[in-house]
Amino acid sequence: MEAALSPQDAAALLRWYVDHGLDETIGEDAIDRFALPPPAGVVATPAPPTASPSAAPTPMRPPVAAPAVRAPVPLESPQLALDAREVARQATTIAELEEAVRAFEGCALKRTAKNTVFADGVAGAPVMIVGEAPGADEDRLGKPFVGVSGQLMDRMFSAIGMSRERDLYITNILFWRPPGNRTPTLSEQAICLAFTRRHIELAKPKIVVLAGGTAVKAVLNTTEGITRLRGKWTTLMLDDDSEVPALPTFHPAYLLRTPASKRQSWQDLLALDKRLRELGVRGSGAGSSSRGN
Ligand code: URA
Repeated sequence: MEAALSPQDAAALLRWYVDHGLDETIGEDAIDRFALPPPAGVVATPAPPTASPSAAPTPMRPPVAAPAVRAPVPLESPQLALDAREVARQATTIAELEEAVRAFEGCALKRTAKNTVFADGVAGAPVMIVGEAPGADEDRLGKPFVGVSGQLMDRMFSAIGMSRERDLYITNILFWRPPGNRTPTLSEQAICLAFTRRHIELAKPKIVVLAGGTAVKAVLNTTEGITRLRGKWTTLMLDDDSEVPALPTFHPAYLLRTPASKRQSWQDLLALDKRLRELGVRGSGAGSSSRGN
């Protein structure tokens, strides 16, 4: 018979779970997925044959530059991503899109989340920020970027005279918090991204700021990492044939862990400010008037 855990051991075990990102109970009983048969359609892949010592050596091929575009990934539920795209396409206003997202049952994350986190700030603002996914605070309050990383983001934009009350529209590529803040699966990303792309079309920002590697990879459909892409302007092509300048930048949560990178993020903010002025969206001095608020 198994000995019962002492309260100290139980507390240590719980701490270990939390340290590994498991801070959410989603069922009464643990599921041993190794003991389950593979899901329909999944065939066990036989191990590749090991080369015999006498096998002829494989001829060397010249290196080929790897494409930065993400190869199409076989999604667990490709139909759900297509459904999401069709539902999103039918929305002709942001209010209709929000209603459609709230009514959508095709993303499993919705079942474990407390709230749908759609957007915050001013719809139609010149700058739309797209982050990754709601965390615990966002899930509780139903608004994006309201936890510590969001507060840092607010302070950073305030340094160039911009605020979510006046100049920013904020959303994520996911509308529901992944349990324990785990990285969203590609299926979850593809489903929600269909709505986010439509969200950008309908909000018509002058510039999209992509915060963090996950949002950058998903929205720009690239495998290139954030360290290479941050600060480099690119053009986001949307399905309604519109185009919008996009600026990848570090995620504020990364800046909290790596404060030395704030210097590069400051360069990104200055580049954003400059571009907005070139576009005639901000008058000269708008940034400096409220700098330091
Ligand atoms: N991180 C994100 O990417 N989005 C949020 O809304 C909060 C934290």
